[in-house]
Amino acid sequence: MLKIDNLPKKVRFSLRDKEIFPNTILSPMDGVTDAPFRRLCRVLSGDRMGLLVSEFVPTDGDAVFNPDGHKQLKFFPEERPFGVQIFGRFPDRMADAAGKIAERYHPEFIEVNAGCPAPKVAGKGSGSGLLRDLPRLQEILHEVKKTLDAKTPEIPLTLKCRIGWDDQSINVMETLKIAEGEGVEMLTVHGRTRLQGYNGLANWDWIGEVAAAAKIPVIGNGDVNSVECARERINTYGVSGVSIGRGAMHNPWIFGAIADAWEGREKHVISAEEALDVFPLYYKFKIEDGATEMNAMGRMKQLAARLCKGFCLGKGRFPLEGGNDLGGEGNELAMSVRQALLTSQSASEMLDQVQKLKESLAYEMVFEPERLVNLNGAKETELKFGDQFKGR
Ligand SMILES: Cc1cc2nc3c(=O)[nH]c(=O)nc-3n(C[C@H](O)[C@H](O)[C@H](O)COP(=O)(O)O)c2cc1C
Repeated sequence: MLKIDNLPKKVRFSLRDKEIFPNTILSPMDGVTDAPFRRLCRVLSGDRMGLLVSEFVPTDGDAVFNPDGHKQLKFFPEERPFGVQIFGRFPDRMADAAGKIAERYHPEFIEVNAGCPAPKVAGKGSGSGLLRDLPRLQEILHEVKKTLDAKTPEIPLTLKCRIGWDDQSINVMETLKIAEGEGVEMLTVHGRTRLQGYNGLANWDWIGEVAAAAKIPVIGNGDVNSVECARERINTYGVSGVSIGRGAMHNPWIFGAIADAWEGREKHVISAEEALDVFPLYYKFKIEDGATEMNAMGRMKQLAARLCKGFCLGKGRFPLEGGNDLGGEGNELAMSVRQALLTSQSASEMLDQVQKLKESLAYEMVFEPERLVNLNGAKETELKFGDQFKGR
């Protein structure tokens, strides 16, 4: 087996002087990537998943930031290297929050969010709203960096942005310039505009332009859903790494699969039983984190809605055509498994269903999440972003 130190640069990167292997980040997803979900991904990856980031922490509401009031700040020591992401539009409040978080929690980095498209965030000038006001973004980065340098100079500042507000105002190259000028040490670029929300595909050509021009590590983000896709994005677009969001909900093993590939190990094929075992494990992590049964069930259903799309009938029994999406028999099976879990009325009923599926169907099922290319399935009602932002 290869030693990590001997692996080529394309499988790792440095955040200041910290080596990150593999070069993957679990994208922050508000309402998804809380500590139990992050723990799940970390355990399933065999503790090999690059960087983890908190859900974004709001700062606009606090004239004086109080870390005690923000559940997103909860993380476990084993999550390190771990970053905290903050969002807001007031430079002084962002700096106050960054300083207090850095001093209390000592994360490996503090990240400013310039990407969130939600009307209640971007519409008020925070998140991707900052892309319409780059001088304000610059002031925020400047003040946050000044505070970090004064209080915790060992903690780097990072930035996550979109490529611009809309197709007519793509300004990611200016954002890069500002970020580097203000001492940002890693830039994650989500290759969509704000107007796109999560629709369409991320524009990786722009991400590649940024990576080619940057002196700091640039992490590409948008639609990465498989080992091959991660490899192709890194090789083609010259990014230092990839950040994976929805792909991790379809396939929380993805980070371990990438690490396996980068280490030259054989691909670990996940059986249907193994995939179904994720639900009791996730439930355990949620309950250990203090979630109510209802909340834990809600999150299990959120995961089921995506993960179950990867189920299809075993190839030996019903050969499936290759292609971009699950088709025919495979799709029907995925739907029925999903349905069985999503209609449960309680966590225990859901876990019973999982057990029944394991005892009945699992022997003829396979789990192939990498076959899913489009992460914006038409039936995905949990994400209501996109064209509805027009004019807001
Ligand atoms: C439900 C949801 C919540 C999100 N919350 C955040 C967030 O708190 N901070 C952030 O920077 N991005 C957030 N994002 C954006 C993701 O981090 C990521 O940029 C986006 O999903 C594109 O990557 P993907 O195609 O790998 O999913 C969120 C995305 C989703 C779907």
